[in-house]
Amino acid sequence: MNASPAASDALTALLAFWHEAGVEDCYEAAPVDRTRETAPPPRAARPASAPPQTTGTVTPLRPTPSGIGATEALADAVARARAAARTAESLESLTDAIRAFDGCPLSGMGARQAVVWRGEATAPVMIVGEGPGAEEDARGLPFVGKAGQLLDRMLKAAGLDGRVMITNTVFWRPPGNRTPTADEQAVCAPFVARALELVKPKLVLTVGAAAARAVLHTSEGITRLRGNWGEWHLAEGGVSAPVMPTLHPAFLLRQPQAKAMVWADLLELAARLDGDDSKSPH
Ligand code: URA
Repeated sequence: MNASPAASDALTALLAFWHEAGVEDCYEAAPVDRTRETAPPPRAARPASAPPQTTGTVTPLRPTPSGIGATEALADAVARARAAARTAESLESLTDAIRAFDGCPLSGMGARQAVVWRGEATAPVMIVGEGPGAEEDARGLPFVGKAGQLLDRMLKAAGLDGRVMITNTVFWRPPGNRTPTADEQAVCAPFVARALELVKPKLVLTVGAAAARAVLHTSEGITRLRGNWGEWHLAEGGVSAPVMPTLHPAFLLRQPQAKAMVWADLLELAARLDGDDSKSPH
């Protein structure tokens, strides 16, 4: 393609603007696995009037713009996630079910793979973050980038090393590391809830505003929520656990003076974990 210098400069400026705004990925309406791509089919293979091909009977969530169709697609995706999560009897089979699940719009937005959990499968503390970032997307494990390394250091200092299971509210990296939407979290929620049932932690730590809101079903700001115990009640099965919301370690990397608050929250959680049975939920 031969673009004029002016058009080329305009395109470069536009791309720089998008990059500055956090747009790092380009994706199409449907996911394309480039690792399996072969030569394109001949143009005449599908008549122009033929409907686009779909796989199975999946109701697409993302291409539906808004309104009743979008609500139905969301309800369908949540129902399918619930059914898939229910069949999992271990974190391993839950991980397989998540990897096989195609109902979360994020899985078609450029994420390399599903990022599910790390840590101890029977840990007394379950940590829920917001969603995988670039490093997590590349390695397939939650909280392994700079923020995760800071979290690990703080957990170790609070005596929680080796006593945590770490996951997120969504399992695919949101494009440009944006915050996951409430719909994206709702589709993944049945899997996160099943993880709570399988791990049976004594306590839960949420990190960041989006995780606290999703787990506690509130629109309250994180500065009010953090440091105060809440309760995570699952809709089905009567399972619940006390929740300590705290700030996100990525925020601490930008605002190190806020570390004192997170430190206080971790010490509160560790004290309750190691305290007497009257403080224990089980
Ligand atoms: N931030 C999160 O919320 N989760 C991760 O896994 C990584 C960074």
